[in-house]
Amino acid sequence: MSERLVSNARTLEGDAVDVLLADGRIESVSEAGALEGTVDDEYDAAGTLLTPAFTEPHTHLDMALTAGDPRWNASGTLREGIELWQEYKSTLERDDVRDRAKRVLEQFAANGVTRVRTHADTTEQTLGGLDALLELKRDVADSIDVQIVAFPQDGLLTDPEHETLLGEAMEMGADLVGGIPHFEYTSEDGTQAVKTAFDIAERYSCGIDLHIDEIDDPGSRFTEVLASEAIKRGFDGNVTASHATAMHSYPNAYASRLVEMLAESGVSVITNPLDNAVLQGRHDGYPRRRGHTRIDELHEAGVTVGIGHDSVMDPVYHYGCADPLDAAYVLVHFAHMSGYGDVGTLWRMLTEANADIFGVEEADYGIKDGAEASFVVFDSETPFEALRKRDPGRLVFSHGQVIARSEEKTAVGLDDSEAAVGLW
Ligand code: FE2
Repeated sequence: MSERLVSNARTLEGDAVDVLLADGRIESVSEAGALEGTVDDEYDAAGTLLTPAFTEPHTHLDMALTAGDPRWNASGTLREGIELWQEYKSTLERDDVRDRAKRVLEQFAANGVTRVRTHADTTEQTLGGLDALLELKRDVADSIDVQIVAFPQDGLLTDPEHETLLGEAMEMGADLVGGIPHFEYTSEDGTQAVKTAFDIAERYSCGIDLHIDEIDDPGSRFTEVLASEAIKRGFDGNVTASHATAMHSYPNAYASRLVEMLAESGVSVITNPLDNAVLQGRHDGYPRRRGHTRIDELHEAGVTVGIGHDSVMDPVYHYGCADPLDAAYVLVHFAHMSGYGDVGTLWRMLTEANADIFGVEEADYGIKDGAEASFVVFDSETPFEALRKRDPGRLVFSHGQVIARSEEKTAVGLDDSEAAVGLW
């Protein structure tokens, strides 16, 4: 049994520890210094931050890296982005999806992500994109755990063929059922789309993750259908409400009832700060609304809220570097989470909440004896510094193996000393 040691690291809770690894698991976590020098293969973290590896709970690998092809989204709106994706996917090629998705997974891995939940468009007639992602999922399984949501991007009931395609996607091996009820033609269809998602999830004993109420319209109320179906059916699978941005615009009395229902239902929520910071409020003059769900109120009620990166250079959002810290950093600003007391909350969202949404077994997760040895050692010493700098210096372990190493940015010779100077 070959052992490795990461010595003298600091956890999110501030404990100084030595972490001993063997066979892809954390053998033991000891007080810093206790194991120093006992193992040949030792990495001295020198007092820097060690966190569980990131879980990315919401992205679109099939769309990623298509920004600018066939054209850039000139307006930056969701409508133009979806039109461009519809154009792109009309000639979608399986190998193209696979190549782009692989490159983005590598970017995620370099940033410390070892679990990725991606949506795959099932309204693309050939399902070639889904097939490519299923193959990629198998190929990268030793390093990255991928979950695929069968996602009827253009609506489930907008075309009679879409439900058939969704069924085929589940048969092919998709992990969860997706949907987009606010995009259906009528609110009756939206409600039906949520119920159908539950029917399919019950048939396949799997979870549900819907793009839901991703709109500024306070009349868009499908999250309540999601929560009520979960409660009434006694659904014990994993259920996620992605986006839920309309909650921002609901009257307070209605929102408080909905938040209670979400807490009762066990449904989790994912906020996607990068995309929704720019996609929402597009019909507003001034004041212009923000595009985020009610994170503080959901937390107060005990609802699990994760942070998703969502797009990586696609026609809906051109930016993005597949770094969860970028998403959290934007949330700091758009959700008024800039207090020092919010730092711990943001890291818990990035780590525990995202892993919980992914369905990671509790025994497997965290920096503790017996857990999977998937973690990140930052160059920064504190969670605040790592978030502030979106620290580029990261050493990434997945199942006990180093899968990425990136360095802090440095400037050279500004004081004529020709020495490399770290950024603060
Ligand atoms: Fe999305």
